[in-house]
Amino acid sequence: MSRINDQMTPSYRWAKRAHDTVVSAVIATAHGKPVELGGGYDFPDTLPDIVSEAMAAAQSKHETLQYGPLYGLDELRDAIVDYLRDDGITTARENILVVNGAKHGLDLACRVFVEPGDAVIVAAPTYLNAVQILKNAEAHFVSIPQDDAGIDTEILRQRLQARHDAGEPMPKLLFDMPDFHNPTGIAMSAARRQRLVELAMYYDFFIIEDDPYRRIRFEGEPVPPIKAFDNTGRVIGLGTVSKILAPGLRIGWVNAAPPILRRMASQKSDGGTCPFLQRTLVQLFRNGKVDQHIATLSTLLRLHRDTMIDAIREHLPGTSIRTPNGGYFLWVRLPPQIDADELVRRAAKEGVSTLSGRLCFAEEPSDSFLRLAYSFSTPGQIADGIERLGRAYAAMRSEFGPPPHRDL
Ligand SMILES: Cc1ncc(COP(=O)(O)O)c(C=O)c1O
Repeated sequence: MSRINDQMTPSYRWAKRAHDTVVSAVIATAHGKPVELGGGYDFPDTLPDIVSEAMAAAQSKHETLQYGPLYGLDELRDAIVDYLRDDGITTARENILVVNGAKHGLDLACRVFVEPGDAVIVAAPTYLNAVQILKNAEAHFVSIPQDDAGIDTEILRQRLQARHDAGEPMPKLLFDMPDFHNPTGIAMSAARRQRLVELAMYYDFFIIEDDPYRRIRFEGEPVPPIKAFDNTGRVIGLGTVSKILAPGLRIGWVNAAPPILRRMASQKSDGGTCPFLQRTLVQLFRNGKVDQHIATLSTLLRLHRDTMIDAIREHLPGTSIRTPNGGYFLWVRLPPQIDADELVRRAAKEGVSTLSGRLCFAEEPSDSFLRLAYSFSTPGQIADGIERLGRAYAAMRSEFGPPPHRDL
């Protein structure tokens, strides 16, 4: 029998969506392990001790080692309802779907709403993994700029009205993060949150509110989540324990109307979130460890943020930043002649891992930015990392900077 493929290697007939992009890579440098300022990892020194809760979960093996309920353990759904109540959100168990992290929730939302070519509104910039998930769903992006109060709702209104006037289909979804936005750190004003809900009602789209950083607050008073302004079920809330407890647990939730949850649940292909970890998390909530961790982490990260800002002022002259009141990230605007991708490459050679802002845009940005995470490294490492970044930056400024001014 003759073979269809005479080569020893298989012919990879990839699906169109299977991009060959390296999302993150550990870069070996002359300095050994680089200082990590790129990824939004939890601070390793405060990861919670979960041994007693995990041992208790192991006792009930008929529950925790069995397939679990598709929507999640009832006790965990109730614990999530209680957690959200403290944020000013009134919800109930039947509105909660447990998922494997917020990204899983977004992926399920795309599966039930987004056909190839459907328009989805995002802020510019936005969460890089959301861009990836929406691209996989072949969404068409409508990118809206932000200012200090969050996504610009007046520009959004104009864009929506223009689409309507041109007879174009309305976007089905808007994705945004109102609290300590990734990557900009912006907290959206209450007025903008309310306006978004009004626009969603008027132009008939759903808002996906992804709110992982809300409790990681250093100063200022919280304003209600977008979901708290919603009386008509237009807001799909995404939550996660990744930023308030431990990303490795891979547990998040969707808070939405039951018809949406039913469709999302039916798109799950993973057999449900691990019941052992869910039961462990229920105990962690009950033992107050989630609240404890939030308090400890917020105190520490405030110091990390301040250290990073001081180091940037010293070592990255000519850049500009906005001080975030919470969250994990600083968003650094670079002078126009400094290409962010090149700076990231050169910084890696100096022994520091950073992230090019280009990855945080759904459409090609006109300006140059870096996203720096102050969550993972210690203050000493942050200061060292920014100094290393500063060396790469200084070299680029002298190569590509504007010619020095000379008096005639
Ligand atoms: C905006 C945003 N959403 C969600 C997450 C976490 O997603 P997951 O719960 O899948 O770990 C992150 C983590 O970086 C994030 O920045």
